[in-house]
Amino acid sequence: MSVYSHYSKKAQELDQSDQLAHYRDFFVSKNENLIYLDGNSLGRLPKPAVSELRNVIEYQWGQNLIRSWNEHWIGLQERLAEKIAQIVGAQADEIFVGDSTSVNFFKLAFAALKIQQNKSVIVSDELNFPSDLYLTQGLINTSYPDHKLLLIKSRDGISIDTHDIESILDEKTALLTLSHVLYRSAFMYDMEKINALAHKRKALVLWDLSHSTGAVRLQLNESGADMAVGCTYKYLNGGPGSPAFLFVRKELQKELQNPVWGWFGHQKPFDFESVYVSNQDIKSFGAGTPPILSMAALEPSLKIITEAGIAPIRHKSVALSEFFKKMTTEILLPSGYVMASPSNPSERGSHVSLRHPEGFRICKSLIEPANDSKSIIPDFRPPDYIRFGFAPLYNTFTEMVETVARLEQIIKTEEFKRHSEQKPVVT
Ligand SMILES: Cc1ncc(COP(=O)(O)O)c(C=O)c1O
Repeated sequence: MSVYSHYSKKAQELDQSDQLAHYRDFFVSKNENLIYLDGNSLGRLPKPAVSELRNVIEYQWGQNLIRSWNEHWIGLQERLAEKIAQIVGAQADEIFVGDSTSVNFFKLAFAALKIQQNKSVIVSDELNFPSDLYLTQGLINTSYPDHKLLLIKSRDGISIDTHDIESILDEKTALLTLSHVLYRSAFMYDMEKINALAHKRKALVLWDLSHSTGAVRLQLNESGADMAVGCTYKYLNGGPGSPAFLFVRKELQKELQNPVWGWFGHQKPFDFESVYVSNQDIKSFGAGTPPILSMAALEPSLKIITEAGIAPIRHKSVALSEFFKKMTTEILLPSGYVMASPSNPSERGSHVSLRHPEGFRICKSLIEPANDSKSIIPDFRPPDYIRFGFAPLYNTFTEMVETVARLEQIIKTEEFKRHSEQKPVVT
């Protein structure tokens, strides 16, 4: 039995006993010749979102017009917050849905630094998502010129050692901000442990949950989290540019003030008072009119996720990644690929990254095969990372085998040489 027939047989068995298999039909897929492994960047379109959007556009907007604000749209943010709260282990009145992850990050980081009097250090890590680091640099540049940003170094390029966090934190640390799951390697922090370390020094912690939400188990309340932000277009399948969310622990809500004093954060926006009076709860983190079309598209997907449950989703995510990793170790590492994700599943989110000096052209070959192979869509992150995102609601074990076989074939046949190094705007 060849190595692939062994793995294909195993994959078929795993697919047949998969408790989540029927969820694949909830997602639009007109192309059986496509393997989509980029749900960690942009989740697939849920079928119920199509009918929901059609109704919102054609009836609620098209016919009912402004009356739909009172009849349908006011309350949508709260309904989404309730579902996201279940997914991240928080209370509904601790979640605000709207704006982008970056804007929410700015609002919370600004507010946190303001209440951390006499503390002037912000700590993050060198592997963090660039937007979070840019926002922090921008805050220092525009508003907190005496603050400085310290970046914890990685010892292996994949993870951050908890001891290195412990030794950098001190009484001057105002804010520690980290991505719970790192965007390149998928390394996952122990949130509870880090929160405790920071709180010992009276530092606040701001988590970026973009690569965690909907894929790994989160318990924001239980783990003592202060603040968090996250996007909804990855594992939450909200669609391109769907609204982000933020979380603020209940007790902190009275202390933290949104620096963007828009009317949707006002206590009574429709009294049209000239003077700003902040809402005293999570609604104060609103600023402007919520994007109803994007929010409407998100609601059906959140229903699917909460119905499926995060525990089975995480269980399958680990099973898919471990299966992929096993084949990679046996077949791909000898072909020149390098594993760039943690090997311990409890320290890994729902994607696996491989490095190869020809990473970009390999990625192109997967997407645009020279033969009649299926098209496989992962994504590429410079300098040479190919990221394979595993979305348990629609990916299968058989797809893992097909992907590994293509990765080996592309190297063996040097198929990647057909492609240029020219990169498109979005990778
Ligand atoms: C970890 C992380 N943080 C922040 C962002 C930026 O999110 P947004 O475009 O919603 O500001 C992304 C985008 O991919 C991300 O992966």
